[in-house]
Amino acid sequence: MSKVALIMGSLRRPGNGIGIANWLTPILRNNLEQTDVVFLDSTKPPLPLGPIVDGTHVPADVRDPTQHPNPTVREFASFITSCNGFVFLSPEYNGSYSGEMKNTLDHLYWEWQKKPALVVTYGGGGGTRAATQLRGLLEGPFKMKLTEKGVAIKWPKGAGTVPPDGEAPEWLQGFEPEVLAAIEEFKRLLAQQNSA
Ligand SMILES: Cc1cc2nc3c(=O)[nH]c(=O)nc-3n(C[C@H](O)[C@H](O)[C@H](O)COP(=O)(O)O)c2cc1C
Repeated sequence: MSKVALIMGSLRRPGNGIGIANWLTPILRNNLEQTDVVFLDSTKPPLPLGPIVDGTHVPADVRDPTQHPNPTVREFASFITSCNGFVFLSPEYNGSYSGEMKNTLDHLYWEWQKKPALVVTYGGGGGTRAATQLRGLLEGPFKMKLTEKGVAIKWPKGAGTVPPDGEAPEWLQGFEPEVLAAIEEFKRLLAQQNSA
């Protein structure tokens, strides 16, 4: 059984992130066979959001995930190590991905290395600038294997907010084919990773 984490980079409550994640999670669960899809709510453990308080080391100095001095980071490192791949879901804020997403990623280094990932962004323009920058980080320092196809959820004019639960709005459901195409590629990357 593989494990994939859906990591959300939005802390705004109420916000659109939870509603989008609640629409996206079952699509991932229904289409990633033999895979445990875990949604990480960024307000809850094991995400160590907050200041990177332990200045005794930089994450890249800790090769062994059990050796992070901070217990919260250690728990997060253990969880990320146990995952085979990731779906990153980020809003676009002022032309970039969210600070929450950067904060989450910066707590670790080796644990992300070379793992498969799929990037989903959202915003007025689909979050394409956020996606470009996030992909640069994931493929650069973390050497992650990204699907070429991402998903850019572009808000239609006057669409309003995405409710945190219940049925997703029709315009959002219209992005399902893009998600399914990206999942097909993601599955191939996961299979390659598992057979390596
Ligand atoms: C601080 C802030 C900055 C934003 N900047 C952008 C932006 O640069 N481009 C864009 O397309 N949307 C931008 N938006 C709109 C958000 O992408 C949109 O509201 C999104 O749904 C926010 O996600 P959230 O509710 O999950 O936090 C911004 C929203 C906020 C709160």
